Amino acid sequence: MCGIVGYIGKDKCIPIIINGLEALEYRGYDSAGIAYVLNNKVVIEKEQGRIDNLKKKLNLLEDSYLGIGHTRWATHGKPCKENSHPHQVGNITLVHNGIIENYKELKNELAEYTFKSDTDTEVVAAYIDKLCKEKKDMLEVLKILKDKLIGSYALGIIVDGLDKLFAIRKDSPLIIGVSEKGNFIASDVPAILKYTNMYYLLLNDEFAVLDYDDVIIYDSDGCVSTKNIEVFDGTFEAAMKNGYDHFMLKEIYEQPKVISDTVNEYIKDKKTFLEKMKGLEKYTAIDIVGCGSAYHVGLVGKSLITEYGKVLVNVDIASEYRYTNHIYSKKHLIILISQSGETADTLAVLRKAKKEHIDTLAIVNVVGSSIAREADKVFYIKAGPEIAVATTKAYSCQLMLLSLIAAYLGIKNKILKDDVLEEYRKVSNLLSDSLSDTKIIERIANRIYKNKDIFFLGRKIDYALAMEASLKLKEVSYLHSEAYAAGELKHGTISLIEHNTPVISIVTDDSIRLKTLSNIKEVCARGAFSIIITNKDIDDKEMYEEIIMVPKVTDLVSSVLVISKCQLLAYYVAKLNGCDIDKPRNLAKSVTVE
Ligand code: F6R
Repeated sequence: MCGIVGYIGKDKCIPIIINGLEALEYRGYDSAGIAYVLNNKVVIEKEQGRIDNLKKKLNLLEDSYLGIGHTRWATHGKPCKENSHPHQVGNITLVHNGIIENYKELKNELAEYTFKSDTDTEVVAAYIDKLCKEKKDMLEVLKILKDKLIGSYALGIIVDGLDKLFAIRKDSPLIIGVSEKGNFIASDVPAILKYTNMYYLLLNDEFAVLDYDDVIIYDSDGCVSTKNIEVFDGTFEAAMKNGYDHFMLKEIYEQPKVISDTVNEYIKDKKTFLEKMKGLEKYTAIDIVGCGSAYHVGLVGKSLITEYGKVLVNVDIASEYRYTNHIYSKKHLIILISQSGETADTLAVLRKAKKEHIDTLAIVNVVGSSIAREADKVFYIKAGPEIAVATTKAYSCQLMLLSLIAAYLGIKNKILKDDVLEEYRKVSNLLSDSLSDTKIIERIANRIYKNKDIFFLGRKIDYALAMEASLKLKEVSYLHSEAYAAGELKHGTISLIEHNTPVISIVTDDSIRLKTLSNIKEVCARGAFSIIITNKDIDDKEMYEEIIMVPKVTDLVSSVLVISKCQLLAYYVAKLNGCDIDKPRNLAKSVTVE
């Protein structure tokens, strides 16, 4: 999601804008740019990649007191310098967050303009320029604009020769910050907190005119509005957490949105889906490699790709795989999974694979990271920055991507029909509903947070999920936890089950349900505190003390519904134990050593 910052005031604007953009990095971006007024002229600098690349091109102490900045997360047009913001057409320079749905229709009315980028934003800049030339009054233009633009937008606009900053929004966030020294526009509060905690919330169809020492806000009818000023009463970190106590919880609750962003990127329509996945059907064997949770994603992927793709799939931990000899088939693919794209062992596997001329596909979150740059092909997930060390939303998005690969191969094999894609479109809403009630999870957390050992059980795909659930719990709560294939417990580990030992069983796979239920009976007989996560009622109430229900959906998407419950459980147990949830001891977010 793009980020916007703008400033007009008594202080030099470039450092303020850059600082604001850095505070918005969490929104994710692939390029950054700034426009500032210097000696009555608008100067524009933009660069692909990190804000640091842009910073290197700027003189922060330039005598400029009016400017706008932007971090772009590509929607129309690939990530590159030409497509990044600000865009300038005629007398108009602007930054935009959102998507203009009718930009093609607007472009048809702009035959006299030529365009340098593929963006909807440049069309809006031209459209405003044209209106400005006709109306010669920017307030008139803004009134017309809100009726003309279809879609979502937050715009920050500079007009040549006017010492003012204009802002308008619909369905994309924008706040107007105010201070003694100057006034701001921003996509979110953290961007301005270093300078002020006072701001107006701009509502849909409202617009604002910012001067060096004044702000006028207009309501959706174009009349001056007398709004209440909001005061943010917290720290920068609290602002970043957006009301949540921890980043981990925030990121768990972001999952419906980022899953929908990720899925939509790949299945916007059938043509997009087939184009993005094209060629995957040629492989006769796939190795999936990652570390920690990324490895667990691979285990779920193996289950789905084997089932629907009918391909030989092997999953391994990167630190093992890199030192093992492998036999490769003629058409062999290695899929590397990594949130950070920098994990040393996963990167080493990629480099080794390339030396051996094996095709590589990376599923990565961080744009431009080493693994993303070096792999033959990249599928980016759209999880956005993940700040909590324990992965939650990136895991779920990676899972969806492997599942989409399985669905693609299934469609090619004629095991699945195209309508399976509908399941991916529904999952976000189901997940939102499922996350809305945490009572049972909190109750279970209260019962188990003092236990020393906790077990997770499952078979097949449920076992893969049990492994991730167990890792999540132990890494943030410091409780000892193990995941077992339900049928394996009786080969030794069942001796650890005693009265009140929590055993959390995942039972969503119908093909093996009865077998898992028998294993649950075995632990119940030894006095375990049995908790079941399932998508189907269980008649025998003796088999559990707590049951967590998840919606019954295809196995291609059900994993995210299950794992979100386990993530919440890990979170609440850690909270009750007073752990440093976002930064568990001994752990790092990006593991760049082997
Ligand atoms: C666990 C966790 C880790 C990572 C692992 C790989 O919550 O986050 O197990 O999954 O360190 O990291 P990436 O995905 O960045 O390669």
